[in-house]
Amino acid sequence: MLKRLFKKKDITAILNESENSTDGLKRSLSAFNLVTLGIGAIVGTGIFVITGQAAAAYAGPALTISFFISALGCVMAGLCYAEFAAMIPVSGSVYSYSYTTMGEILAWFIGWILILEYLFACSSVAVGWSGYMLSLLHEWGLDLPAQLSYATFDHTKEGWVWTGSIINFPAIFIVSVVSAFLIGGIKQSAWVNNIIVIIKVSVILLFVGFGLSYVDVGNWTPYIPENTGTVGEYGWTGILRGAAVVFYAYLGFDALSTAAGEARNPQRDMPKGILISLSICAVLYIAVTTVLTGIVHYKELNVAAPIAVAVDQAGAGLSWLSPFIKLGAVAGLSSVILVMMLGQARIYYSISKDGLLPKVFSKVHSKHGIPRNATVFASIITGLIAGLFPLHVLSELVSIGTLMAFTIVCISIMILRKTQPGLKRPFRTPWVPFIPLLGAGICIVQMVFLPWSTWERMIAWTILGFIIYFLYGIKHSKLNEPDKTGR
Ligand code: ALA
Repeated sequence: MLKRLFKKKDITAILNESENSTDGLKRSLSAFNLVTLGIGAIVGTGIFVITGQAAAAYAGPALTISFFISALGCVMAGLCYAEFAAMIPVSGSVYSYSYTTMGEILAWFIGWILILEYLFACSSVAVGWSGYMLSLLHEWGLDLPAQLSYATFDHTKEGWVWTGSIINFPAIFIVSVVSAFLIGGIKQSAWVNNIIVIIKVSVILLFVGFGLSYVDVGNWTPYIPENTGTVGEYGWTGILRGAAVVFYAYLGFDALSTAAGEARNPQRDMPKGILISLSICAVLYIAVTTVLTGIVHYKELNVAAPIAVAVDQAGAGLSWLSPFIKLGAVAGLSSVILVMMLGQARIYYSISKDGLLPKVFSKVHSKHGIPRNATVFASIITGLIAGLFPLHVLSELVSIGTLMAFTIVCISIMILRKTQPGLKRPFRTPWVPFIPLLGAGICIVQMVFLPWSTWERMIAWTILGFIIYFLYGIKHSKLNEPDKTGR
C-alpha cells in the first residue's frame, strides 16, 4: 500500500508522452507571449492597492527595500521554477514536478494546494476588481444596488454572518467575461492579455514619468522611519514585514509554468518568461514606490487607490492621469484573473490526465486546443466563491498555498539533482543547493508567521483533499494500472 502511495512517475515517460501526444494542447505561445503572460499575472492588486497600505503601516519610503527583498525571495523560487519548467515542459507545474520526485500521494497533495492557490487568488482578485469597478461606476454617476455589490457572507468575531447582500455581481461578471475569452483558446487569451499588459504598463510608466517632477524630496526623509517600539512598525523590522506583505504583488510568475505545455519552445522560452517578467515587475514596483512616497507622505497612503490619490494630490498638472489610473487598474486586474484561471484549469487538466480527477477534465477541445471542461468548471467555482465571500477571507489562503508550492519546488530541485543527475537540463538553477535552500528557508519563515486561522483553513482544505484522493484518486490512478511505466 505504502509503495503504491509513493509510486513515482518516470520523468522520461512524461517527456515522451508530452512530445508524442496528438490530442494535447496547442503549442502556440512565443517567448514574448510568455513574458507578457507573466506580467499579466503579476501586476495587479499588489501594486495598485497594497503598496500604499504597506508603506503607510510598515515601512514608509523604505518600502522600496521591502520590494527588493521580496523580489530576491521570488527570484530564488523563480530560478528553481525555470529549471523545472524547461526540463519538464508540461501543464501541471509543481504537481507534475513532484510526481517525478516525491511520488503520487505527495503530488496529489501539491496539486490540491495549487488548486487552492489559483482558485483563491483568482476569486480574491475578482473581488478586488469589483471594488475598483464600483468606485469607477460611482464616479460616472452609476450605482449598483447594495444587495448586488458585496459578498453574501462574512467571517467576523461572531463567526460566519449573512451580510444582507444577495451576491457580489460585478465579481461574477468579470469571471464570466474572462472565462469567455479563455474558452476561445489560448492564442486569443494571450492576445487579450497582451493588450491589457500594454495598458497597465503604460499607465504605470506614465505615472512614474510624469510623477517624478512632482516629487517632494522632503517626503523621503526619514527614508527609514524610526521603529515605534512595536515589531514590524517601521525601522528594519517594518521593512521585513513590508517584504512579506508585498510578496503577494509578485505572485503570478509561477502560474506561467502551467502554460509550459502550450509554449512553442518551452526549453528555451520558459526560463526567459519567468525571469524576465519577474525582473520587469520588480523594477516597475520599485519605481512606482519611489515616486508614490515622494509625492504623498507615507502616512497618508493607507487608502484603497493610493496611485490615484497621488495623482490627485500632485495637483492640476497631473489630474488628467486619474481616470487612466483607475481604468488601468480595472484592466490590469482582469489579466491577473485571466492567467490565474488559465493556471487553475491546467492543473485540473493535468491531474485528470493522471486519473486522479474525473476524465472529463482532461478532454481537449478539438478546435481551440484548450481543456474546455476544466476551464468551464474553474469559471463556475471561481465565480461562485468570488460572489459569496469577502476579500480578506479569500486572500488569506492565497499566501499559504503559494509559499508551500515555492518551498516544494526549491526542495524538489535538490532531490532531482541527486536522484537524476544525468537528466537534460536546458536551464540550470545556479549555486545549488545554496539558492534552493535559501529560497525554501525564506518561504518557511514567512509561513510560520502567518495567522493560526489561516493554518486552520489550510488543514481543513488538506483533509478534504485526502478524502477525495482515498475515495476517488487512488482507485483511478493511471500510474497504478498494471501496464503503466512507474518506478
Ligand atoms: N500579483 C498579483 C496581484 O498583485 C496576485 O494582484
